[in-house]
Amino acid sequence: MNSPADRYDRLTRTFHWLTAALVIFMFASAHIWENLEKGTPLRKGLQSVHISLGIAMAVLIAARILWRLFGGNHPKADNHPALNLAAKIAHGCLYLLLLTQVTLGFLFRWAQGEPFNF
Ligand code: HEM
Repeated sequence: MNSPADRYDRLTRTFHWLTAALVIFMFASAHIWENLEKGTPLRKGLQSVHISLGIAMAVLIAARILWRLFGGNHPKADNHPALNLAAKIAHGCLYLLLLTQVTLGFLFRWAQGEPFNF
């Protein structure tokens, strides 16, 4: 059986699944509202939830990056140094993509000149 040192800690796992759920929701919500007529309450509602969860996502990602840098248990992927390096690079790319997407979302909203209401 795996020892606790071989597992990601509970908070890291919570961050992981919350991020996964949010990314799926953000992606799906935008593609659903694109197929709805402009001005319908459902379209507007989905956009509001998208923005609110987008703000929450920015906080979540900042928290998880801080936790990744300063806390938590992150076991090595494998005993092979090249595989560990590849895993580190892949994780770094995923953090970068998340940060880019959140930044683009905020820029999109600012470009619309609309307020950020949670
Ligand atoms: C993984 C995260 C996200 C994904 C996958 C995602 C995806 C999308 C997609 C596909 C669109 C439609 C673009 C179009 O109209 O062609 C969109 C629009 C938008 N997103 Fe996101 N987004 C994410 C995060 C965010 C965040 C963090 C914010 C900011 C709080 C945000 C704010 C917006 C806004 C304001 C729009 C335009 C809404 C409108 O048309 O009025 N998004 N997003």
